[in-house]
Order: sequence, then structure tokens, then C-alpha cells
Amino acid sequence: MDDDVVLSAPLFATMDADETRTLFESMQQVELTRGDVLFREGEPGDRLYVIATGKIKLGRRSNDGRENLLSILGPGEMFGELSLFDPGPRTATASSVADSVIYELGHEQLVAWIEKHPSVAKHLLEALARRLRRTNETLADLVFSDVPGRVAKALLDLSTRFGEETDEGVRVAHDLTQEELAQLVGASRETVNKALADFATRGWVRREGRAVVLLDLDRLERRAR
Ligand code: CMP
Repeated sequence: MDDDVVLSAPLFATMDADETRTLFESMQQVELTRGDVLFREGEPGDRLYVIATGKIKLGRRSNDGRENLLSILGPGEMFGELSLFDPGPRTATASSVADSVIYELGHEQLVAWIEKHPSVAKHLLEALARRLRRTNETLADLVFSDVPGRVAKALLDLSTRFGEETDEGVRVAHDLTQEELAQLVGASRETVNKALADFATRGWVRREGRAVVLLDLDRLERRAR
């Protein structure tokens, strides 16, 4: 079923199909329902995860209780590796925003796997570098872009993971509440709502509960720049 998605993760980027399958089969499957917390920021971490189906949000909380979402990850993506490569507590809280199936791998097993297949390390580095690139971009957007620009960018980013082509446009079933979308954009719910309403009036998007249909990608891309 979801094997192929999981096996496409950088973790499995070795040519040996038998060994890959053995590693995959040694991984524990975890099922989550929306709202389940897998681990919390600050806890010790001894395993990483690969998503087979569903969506996982990674968030941080400020001392006064406000929340910021670092990312929403989908099938084939990995998380929980930072506390291995840079030993220390979990840097974010991971919870599910949709029913999800994920596979976990203990750090010890991961280290043994990398030692046996050094090429895997290169692919993991690539994944980390991609993430740093994205994080830098998000950071720059927080400083240089206005909220509508960041909303447009977040929608386009979510569409690369969760978008589905339809006759009308790209339907993105993000499963996020308005509050979560605002936490992802780093703005208040009201401001994000206003931007979305404006996009809808202009005919760039149509809102459908916890999904949005991107009707005019060109305009959204220009607004995101
Ligand atoms: P870890 O610190 O073990 O637990 C939280 C995980 O969230 C972390 O490993 C990464 O896998 C993931 N993570 C942390 N920061 C980001 C980010 N900026 N973008 C995407 N994922 C992140």
C-alpha cells in the first residue's frame, strides 16, 4: 500500500532492494488520529519517523503560550532526525493534523544503517539542506513580505505536497483550521482570513472548509514573490 511512498524517502536511497525492504520491515508502524501528539518539544528523542499517509505538523510554543508552525509534512517526508544528528531534546512538537500512518526507526538502527550505506548520509544531508533553504526563505519572508504574500506562498507550498489537479485548478486539502493556517503564516487569524477573503473575491482561490482550490496559480505566484 503505502510502502512505495515510504521507500522513496532519502533514508532508503540505496541500491540494495533486499536490504531496503529488511530495514523497512523492521520499522514500527504507528497510527495517529487528528490531534494526536507524537512527541513534544523539549522531550528526549531516540527515533525518527517517515510519513506514509496523512499530515504531521511541527510546531513550537512561546513562553506565553503562542504557537508557531515550522512546517506541515506529508507522505514520504521524514522528521525527528535533528535530535540524533545534534544530540539534544526535540526541537519541536509533532502532532497529526489528519489521520496518519507513520513508520519509526530507532536512532541506533539508523546509525548502523548509515555506517553500512554511506550513500544514505548524502541523501539525508540533501534533505537537511533543502529544509534549511526553505527555513531561510520563510525567515526572509517573515521580515520582508507582507501577510497576503506569505499566505499566497504558504498555499503554493502546501499545494506541492497535498495538491490535486482538478478541472478548475489545484485543490489543496490542507486539513488546517484557520488558527493553524495563521500559525503557519506567522500572523493573526484575522489578518490571514482577510487575505484569503481578498484572494477569493479576486477569483484566485475558492475556500472549502479545510481545503482551498487554487484557481489562478499565476496571480498567486506573483503575489508570493
Ligand atoms: P527533532 O528535533 O528530533 O524533533 C522535531 C523535528 O521537527 C526535528 O527533529 C525535525 O525533524 C523537524 N523540524 C525542526 N525544524 C524544522 C523546520 N524548520 N522545518 C521542517 N522540519 C523541522
